[in-house]
Amino acid sequence: MAGLERAAFPDDPWTEASLWGELAQRPRRSYVVMREPGSEELLGYAGLDLAGDVADVMTLAVDPHARGRGIGGLLLEDLHRRALAGGAASMMLEVRSGNEPARGLYAARGYSLVRSRPRYYPSGEDALVLRKELSADV
Ligand SMILES: CC(C)(COP(=O)(O)OP(=O)(O)OC[C@H]1O[C@@H](n2cnc3c(N)ncnc32)[C@H](O)[C@@H]1OP(=O)(O)O)[C@@H](O)C(=O)NCCC(=O)NCCS
Repeated sequence: MAGLERAAFPDDPWTEASLWGELAQRPRRSYVVMREPGSEELLGYAGLDLAGDVADVMTLAVDPHARGRGIGGLLLEDLHRRALAGGAASMMLEVRSGNEPARGLYAARGYSLVRSRPRYYPSGEDALVLRKELSADV
């Protein structure tokens, strides 16, 4: 996961210690990984924070070589199912305003803009807070 994290978020990757910190918070945190069938190769992972009515997407990453194959969508749908099973009614997340692939994915999965946080990131980029109401069809 740490290797994929560095490839997916080269500017500010979580350290291996942060990733262990996330996993240590299970079951409140819930992580899913996708592997190449028949191989140990990790294609992507996603993490969820379950804290009542509103669940949060903590992270979502797909190996740069495996993008555009629907893996990000499958991982996100898995988080939706886990959130519903954990009693959440809606899902929230934060995305950089310039992250077109992620914004496309979230828009296609029914997320809408709640608010923006101007110049939230050190780069000066805005953060967008998105929300989706969950339903049984994820
Ligand atoms: C965002 C990310 C997870 C998408 O993963 P992916 O496996 O390539 O996504 P999918 O193939 O499942 O694409 C699903 C939808 O996302 C959107 N999408 C994906 N790539 C896109 C791109 N380059 N531009 C615009 N929209 C895009 C499309 O709506 C796509 O639906 P379609 O296949 O019907 O066109 C991946 O680009 C990634 O890991 N990026 C780096 C890490 C990151 O930014 N994570 C999100 C942090 S908030």
